[in-house]
Amino acid sequence: MEKRIFDILKDNLKNSYSPYSDYPVSAAVVTKDDEVFTGVNIENASYGATICAERTAIFKAVSAGKRKGDLTALYVMVGSGKVGMPCFMCRQVISEFLDRDALVVCFSTEGQREEYKVGDLCPYPFTSEDLF
Ligand code: THU
Repeated sequence: MEKRIFDILKDNLKNSYSPYSDYPVSAAVVTKDDEVFTGVNIENASYGATICAERTAIFKAVSAGKRKGDLTALYVMVGSGKVGMPCFMCRQVISEFLDRDALVVCFSTEGQREEYKVGDLCPYPFTSEDLF
């Protein structure tokens, strides 16, 4: 499964719309039924309207009806040759839709791999329990 995801991520980098940063990012979220939802970063001339690859992938899964408990892992690849980490806006969204023990795996295009538990990557999240 992971080799397949690695290949999907690498191929999907070409779909990144990142003319402003020239920093393509590819992501994929996997469900417990082994469905794969991919995403890329999509930039905007206003800069602020940019969305990261991780949130694109998660929002595609959520739009298809997936919820916390359905999503088992998130995979990320940046095109720079290094391993890139999810930004903190994405970590907030990761906290909303992936369990604390779900995995976030960050690959470089060269096959370097770093693995984190959501709970380690997203300590002290703001959650619905803070609201109600
Ligand atoms: N980016 C992501 O797609 N994911 C991250 O977690 C880090 C940043 C994108 C946003 C922007 O298009 C480019 O990378 C440079 O910040």
